[in-house]
Amino acid sequence: MKRVLVVGGALLLGMGAVWAQQDSVKEVQVLMKGNGKNAGAVAAMVKGEKPYDQATVDTALAQFEDTAKKLPTLFPDSAKGMKPEGDYSTSPKVWEDKAGFQAKIASFAKVVSEAKAKIKDLDSLKTNFPAVGKECGGCHETFRVKNG
Ligand code: HEC
Repeated sequence: MKRVLVVGGALLLGMGAVWAQQDSVKEVQVLMKGNGKNAGAVAAMVKGEKPYDQATVDTALAQFEDTAKKLPTLFPDSAKGMKPEGDYSTSPKVWEDKAGFQAKIASFAKVVSEAKAKIKDLDSLKTNFPAVGKECGGCHETFRVKNG
């Protein structure tokens, strides 16, 4: 009985490492899907498809801020080359140019916090939201790849 437990424990430990890297890949995807959804809701207001709603803006910016806080730790070396299901995965460049990637996260965080301070109505949304979108695109251009 004891022996079975020990073997089981070792197995669990080994699997824990695999789970950890899958969890981080999964978490990036969940965060990014949330980003996409929130950015879409805000973009609809910019385009005039939806009336301006401060709560939607606040929710979106809070979620982007949360993403920026979590991203720095979500790319352990063990996750390099892992492909989540879905349309996109993380480029190996994230690990090859760690400083460049961290710089993108930092500039995203900065632009989001500036936007948070400035966006109060439709006009200020139209003026300040494009800078946020540029940060999303700027990081994707280099660090995101389409699964094919
Ligand atoms: C610092 C880099 C970085 C920033 C900033 C960033 N992303 Fe991403 N994004 C990624 C990476 C890497 C992936 C690929 C990972 C994946 O999809 O599993 C990704 C994937 C995505 C996806 C595809 C998710 C999927 O797999 O279906 C969406 C949608 C997305 N991002 C939206 C956004 C939006 C909107 C913003 C800005 C508000 C943003 N991202 C900001 C790096 C970034």
